Amino acid sequence: MIDLNFKYQDTITFLKKESPFTPDIAVVLGSGLGIFADATKKIKSISTSDIPSYPTASVEGHKGLIHFSKIENKKILIFQGRNHFYEGYGLSDCVLPVLLTKKIGCDKIIFTNAAGGVNKNFVPGDLMLVESFNAINIKKELTDLIGISSFEAKKNFLNCPSSRINKILKEIADENGISLKSGIYWYTKGPSYETPAEIEMIRRFGGDAAGMSTVHEAVFASSLNMEIAIVSCITNMASGISQQKLSHAEVTETAKNSSEKFALLLKTAISRM
Ligand code: HPA
Repeated sequence: MIDLNFKYQDTITFLKKESPFTPDIAVVLGSGLGIFADATKKIKSISTSDIPSYPTASVEGHKGLIHFSKIENKKILIFQGRNHFYEGYGLSDCVLPVLLTKKIGCDKIIFTNAAGGVNKNFVPGDLMLVESFNAINIKKELTDLIGISSFEAKKNFLNCPSSRINKILKEIADENGISLKSGIYWYTKGPSYETPAEIEMIRRFGGDAAGMSTVHEAVFASSLNMEIAIVSCITNMASGISQQKLSHAEVTETAKNSSEKFALLLKTAISRM
């Protein structure tokens, strides 16, 4: 097993020292969803390039900022930008935001991401609440990360994603007339988008959206007994579902267009958590 406490000891010490408060909840923002951070009252922002040993953010649309913010009565920690397996990082490095969140004393985290729509009833711009996810591609890596499971450790996965947080997100969506789809997020490793054949397989096996992040983060968080929820922004129809060619520009553009309703959903939900 990888000893992340040892590997990231300087990073943990730095963030503990710099944090102005113990957050109530953390949010990890996906591609193009940075507007959420601007909808909060930022107390302190830190560039990840100023944090010891923090992996460099290399993908466009992923900024590499950490914000300590407030929304009404809630203190939140926001990771604007993440690191991905397809950038050459180990999954153990990609879970650093989760480790840092836990280490500074917060045990709730909402993950957001951009994903390709596999369910033919979805359209680009839809938001999808992740009811469950498929991690079949990364079972070995997850074992390297969290170890061989014990009976005790398995209990941490009984409510992942959290039914409590999902209920709040659904209520807020209903109250504000935000259409919130729900479905299964299927992890793909990248580095490229999928082929039409891969997407057809995912569809037939019950996947509703495909994406290259979040699952390992959610599994790691749950292994640390954290409460998690996941919201995907369907930024494009996945390969072969629509004839349109996929591009990262389309992904960030659609995410930006949806980010206002997305920010409203998240902001209102967080204030009620
Ligand atoms: N596939 C994988 N990841 C993605 C996609 C996609 O179509 N869109 C945004 N992230």
